[in-house]
Amino acid sequence: MNSTHASPLKHPARWPRAVLFDAYGTLFDVYSVAQLAEELFPGHGQALSVAWRDKQIEYTRLVTTCNHGAHYQPFSALTRAALIFAIKKIATTPGNTWADADFLLEFEPAIELLLAQYQHLDAFPENLEVLQQLKAAGIPIGILSNGDAAMLQAAVHSAGFDGLLDHVISVDPIRKFKTHPEAYALGEQTLGLTAPEVLFVSSNAWDALGATWYGYQTLWVNRYQLPFEELGTQPTHIGYSLRDVHHFFPS
Ligand code: LAC
Repeated sequence: MNSTHASPLKHPARWPRAVLFDAYGTLFDVYSVAQLAEELFPGHGQALSVAWRDKQIEYTRLVTTCNHGAHYQPFSALTRAALIFAIKKIATTPGNTWADADFLLEFEPAIELLLAQYQHLDAFPENLEVLQQLKAAGIPIGILSNGDAAMLQAAVHSAGFDGLLDHVISVDPIRKFKTHPEAYALGEQTLGLTAPEVLFVSSNAWDALGATWYGYQTLWVNRYQLPFEELGTQPTHIGYSLRDVHHFFPS
């Protein structure tokens, strides 16, 4: 089967009793910074936003897996570090490496502008309506994210989601990022439900896989027509927008 096509959903063993959403990439469009990045670094906006996101996720894995978490930093700090890396990557030419002081002098204003923009990422257009529909149906909904509390609250507020989410769960208190099982366990603990009773929704394939392995029902929202991870496990369902959560509930 072509894994980029929506899989027909078999009726789940039980309807989910709650829905948890990943934040960055799923509710909030991390690539919506590309326009500002393009204004600041003409010709490099898209590359910068991709390098920034990739390095951000790589850093979450480094600090979770190395030396029993001794190098942990919250997601906001890793996001800043990843942005500095991404800017250095595009600003460094052969024979030109930056002394830290010179780099900060040159790029601090751009760094601050881009980090401020990260607090106000665009939400994907269908998201508000889907959250409102779930809320109206009485289904508990929340976020389970690597983001730390302050940045999540800012993003939720900026997207107009205030008052819609029953839970905004950050991994920060346990100092371990998804895909660590203790990070996914926060969802069960907060909801007072077991993983198979919960639908976990992510547009990040690695996150949908981690949540599936953990035991959640999962929806991978394949927003970019990508193949799923090739590690022998499929999410419960593959969709193309947040609206596909409705497949999990009786119509
Ligand atoms: C989140 C990022 C990793 O957990 O997408 O929100």
